[in-house]
Amino acid sequence: MGMTQSDLSENALDCVKVRINFVALNYRDYLAANGFLGPKAAALAPGNEGAGVILESAVRDLAEGDCVFVNSGGLGEKSNGTTAAEITVPASSVCKIPAGLTLRQAAIAGVPSLVAAEALSLFPTDADLPVAVTGASGGTGRVAATFFARAGRKVTAMSRNADCADVLKRLGVNDFIQTPHLDELNADTFGPDRFSAAFDVTGVMLNWLTRNVAQGGVIAVTGFAGGHQNQINTISVLLKCLALIGVNAGISAAAKARALKLVARNFQAADFNLLAHEIDPADVSVVARNFPGHSGRGRILVGLA
Ligand SMILES: NC(=O)c1ccc[n+]([C@@H]2O[C@H](COP(=O)([O-])OP(=O)(O)OC[C@H]3O[C@@H](n4cnc5c(N)ncnc54)[C@H](OP(=O)(O)O)[C@@H]3O)[C@@H](O)[C@H]2O)c1
Repeated sequence: MGMTQSDLSENALDCVKVRINFVALNYRDYLAANGFLGPKAAALAPGNEGAGVILESAVRDLAEGDCVFVNSGGLGEKSNGTTAAEITVPASSVCKIPAGLTLRQAAIAGVPSLVAAEALSLFPTDADLPVAVTGASGGTGRVAATFFARAGRKVTAMSRNADCADVLKRLGVNDFIQTPHLDELNADTFGPDRFSAAFDVTGVMLNWLTRNVAQGGVIAVTGFAGGHQNQINTISVLLKCLALIGVNAGISAAAKARALKLVARNFQAADFNLLAHEIDPADVSVVARNFPGHSGRGRILVGLA
């Protein structure tokens, strides 16, 4: 049912009101909760992404009762985030969840699946070599590794934590490499042509990746969990014509819907429990402040009553 002007204020006419059922905490929530995005963001309810049901809509293609995924639009940074449970967001932050994907599953796949879909669209298609995914025990790396593997790509997952090799293999990755020691990460020697492409959430592994991705390869620069002022091997980038491309989830609603359709089509039902761990809603603020303390266990999911 569409809304009338009397239901939403005039400046909210391109907005929808959403009841959020599931939130997955995002690194931005950690940055906001710890004051890196300013005092206003630190005081807001956390939650840059989530999945729920539309309560009210003044937007033509979005109706009351639609199941939607919401992200960005200043959520948890300029206005209360998804853990506030009822939020009003611009239509540009909303994408319908495709058939076959539950609210919980959509929240778990969430932003990392949007970023992975963007990266995959940039990767060489004719490559026999695997795609490397770093930080693969964490939230973004784990979903991205699954996204590529379930889309039929060979994946080598990389993590400092060898204990997560088994779970990553159950999520479809072919191979596991323990993250090399810092000396090797920042060495000068070229490695073998191991990968056709890479998805890096760590920042600190860029040098090593530039030395181990094959001619014409693509490195999707997607995160900075280990630091943001990092080395690359310029000779390697130059001689192998590598592309280092920043990729984020600021994509169109149509592109988000395409990404979630791939999740609905390719992921297996059992994957989702391996991709996230759930926390009590009462613990959200504490966990958001100590996000790295939850590192290595996939996405941090919050079910709202
Ligand atoms: N581009 C985008 O739109 C987008 C979307 C979501 C997230 N991100 C970014 O992605 C990054 C990770 O977010 P997340 O939610 O996945 O966090 P997370 O769950 O904490 O995972 C980060 C992982 O990075 C690895 N890591 C951390 N510090 C490291 C270090 N010093 N050296 C090597 N590896 C290290 C760890 O993996 P192992 O323990 O497995 O080694 C860790 O589990 C953040 O920078 C975030 O801003 C970007």
